[in-house]
Amino acid sequence: MGRGLVTLCLRAGVVGGILALALTGCSSAEPDEPLVRSATVQATPHPSVTASPPVMSSRVTPSATPEDTPSSAAPEDPELDHGSPNSIHVLVNKQNPLDPADYAPEDLSVPDVPSSRPGAELRDEAAGAAEDLFSAAVQDGVDLTLLSAYRSYGYQQGTYAGWVETYGQAKADRISARPGFSEHQTGLAMDVGAADGACALEQCFGETAEGAWVAEHAAEHGWIVRYPDGAEDITGYSPEPWHLRYVGTEAAADVVASGGVLETAWGFAPAPGY
Ligand code: DAL
Ligand code: ZN
Repeated sequence: MGRGLVTLCLRAGVVGGILALALTGCSSAEPDEPLVRSATVQATPHPSVTASPPVMSSRVTPSATPEDTPSSAAPEDPELDHGSPNSIHVLVNKQNPLDPADYAPEDLSVPDVPSSRPGAELRDEAAGAAEDLFSAAVQDGVDLTLLSAYRSYGYQQGTYAGWVETYGQAKADRISARPGFSEHQTGLAMDVGAADGACALEQCFGETAEGAWVAEHAAEHGWIVRYPDGAEDITGYSPEPWHLRYVGTEAAADVVASGGVLETAWGFAPAPGY
């Protein structure tokens, strides 16, 4: 719902992000969405971001094909559908891209949660689970804010290109997914932060009260911390204590019980690279 409004909001977010970045100091963030993050990246915004705002339409046809498209690993759990992009159990990593690459969910809605990116969408089921998570946090005296949620193929193109421009491809690939390979494109992932803005999209978020609460309670509401510390050789990404993936409460409990790494829990091979 509200696709037209969302398009406007997100484009406004791009502009706002750039303005904010011009006014704020640098940080050592290891973020996955440069448009809402540190001045480190946006002091000189990449032309692909500023001159041509990311395409937000879910009907976009990719203008580029991801490099080195890998083949998918076979899932080992026959009870869960890890291959269909519409499955809440879809597995997306550097060895398992979305198919089709420009997949866009058809049941996006805006969760009723505090957000620094008004209009940010999730798939309906995930949106409800996000509301549950945020409400439970408030009950425990923890105030969260939503920093990023669904990102289209076209949007991710701009995001990833910005990081490559800033850090080069090797580092960019540790912190940002190539278009067609991002969980954000499933509508089942969100980045959360502390409402007071502390350590937003930075490693130190994991050490805040909000980050600690999320790590302890996310699974109770169907979310997992997707890129945990110490698992980069499996997930392919440096730790992101702010990036949550919705899988449902039962699957989330299983992931936690098996050690907290989605690939391992679901029987997929490590995916350190493309
Ligand atoms: N930062 C995560 C890996 C993404 O770009 O989807
Ligand atoms: Zn994320």
